[in-house]
Amino acid sequence: MTAKHRRAPSTPPPPLLSDVGIPKRMKPTVTSVFVLALALSPAVLIGAHASEGVAKLPVMGFNTWNAYHCNISEDIVIKNANLMISLGLADAGYNYVNIDDCYAAKQRNSDGDIVANQTKFPSGMKTLTDNIHALGLNAGIYSDAGWFTCQLYPGSYQNEARDAKLFQDEWGFDYLKYDNCAVPFDNITRENIMGRYARMANAISDLSKSTGKPPLILSLCEWGREQVWLWGKRYGQSWRTAGDLVPFWKSVAFIINQNSFYSWASDFYGHNDMDMLQIGNGNLTYEESKTHFTAWALMKSPLLIGTDVETASNQTIEILTNREIIAINQDPVVGTGVTPFRWGINPDYISNNTHPAQYWSGESQNGTVFMLINTLDEPATMFFNLTESPWIRAGIQYSVRDLWAHSNNGTAVRNFTAYNVPPHGVVALLLQDAGDEPEGLWPPCAVTWWCVSQSGIIIV
Ligand code: GAL
Repeated sequence: MTAKHRRAPSTPPPPLLSDVGIPKRMKPTVTSVFVLALALSPAVLIGAHASEGVAKLPVMGFNTWNAYHCNISEDIVIKNANLMISLGLADAGYNYVNIDDCYAAKQRNSDGDIVANQTKFPSGMKTLTDNIHALGLNAGIYSDAGWFTCQLYPGSYQNEARDAKLFQDEWGFDYLKYDNCAVPFDNITRENIMGRYARMANAISDLSKSTGKPPLILSLCEWGREQVWLWGKRYGQSWRTAGDLVPFWKSVAFIINQNSFYSWASDFYGHNDMDMLQIGNGNLTYEESKTHFTAWALMKSPLLIGTDVETASNQTIEILTNREIIAINQDPVVGTGVTPFRWGINPDYISNNTHPAQYWSGESQNGTVFMLINTLDEPATMFFNLTESPWIRAGIQYSVRDLWAHSNNGTAVRNFTAYNVPPHGVVALLLQDAGDEPEGLWPPCAVTWWCVSQSGIIIV
């Protein structure tokens, strides 16, 4: 989907804070005080973004941070953008090229605008986004809801409208990642994190209304603070649910565990962001990288490649372009992701950062998705009864598609066993209705709880 083809807003967004006029002669009755309170409350923004119709599905693309940190330049950005095309990543769905922190000069100019660092980006941001768009890709930029970014470049606090306009109108970006460092004093903000993000959401929405362009996609990056999964969807299209992912298994397992508690919150137009991918970085093994990719994709996180794609191994590209896994992430019919149905080596509903939930399932347009994660340091056999998942029907047998082996794996009747799952490895399955289960199975109910014949005989 290119910038040009992004869907225009289908219905006008509801009034935002700045639109809510307060009648001049309103008498201070109980009702009017209530109306006034509503008008001044950030809750007025509820639904503002959802009706604006951008980023229905998790954003896929590339981001500079994990691979380059502050060592970025226009050459690096354009190199990776070109490789996205030549390596088939764009074809697989990765269509955003996003610049992270450190692109700016340390000071705003005398007009008060952020300026791009002229050594790193000598051609200027507009030329860069023109080049990215010419490849059929979209472009993303970065700022912060405080005085400075996390690397102490200018933040957007109190400059939200000016910066939104610069990013979208003058520089031509389509997407904004918005960080949470360098927070102003309480006696200046009189707000919480949500309030500071509402300021930018408002600015983006106002700008979109005045230009008629689709709004900048807003990616909230405040590391899961203040239970963002409860309110992130009011303001943006994705929200980080945890701190930074680093390229080690312990960190992957930690974020899977964190996200398991809010995995229900991802749906169309609003996604838990588990952080940018570390596949291709650090010491993640092949099996760990597959688990990382599967968990992020099936929990409907944005998928932003965070490695130098020029030096990426074939295995890295193979993992990133697993179309059967991507198809679940980008399912246009079912927006929700997988959630745990059993916790595995811990009792149910108990997990820890080393041993997150192991047994997950969810819906998709083509069948029921299962994800099994072996959190142990040794191979494991993993077994489950199909009806442990709510998305399975009793009395039906299921064909099994292995989304990593890319093979059909027979028919599952009532249960499934995965043998020898490697340490920290994953099994991803798509189960499809294969008709009634064979006659005469015993017991006559797969779930042997209150299984009773029509004449009242308790079977088990
Ligand atoms: C962090 C953020 C990272 C990266 C970094 C840049 O707060 O979580 O993803 O953007 O700031 O300084």
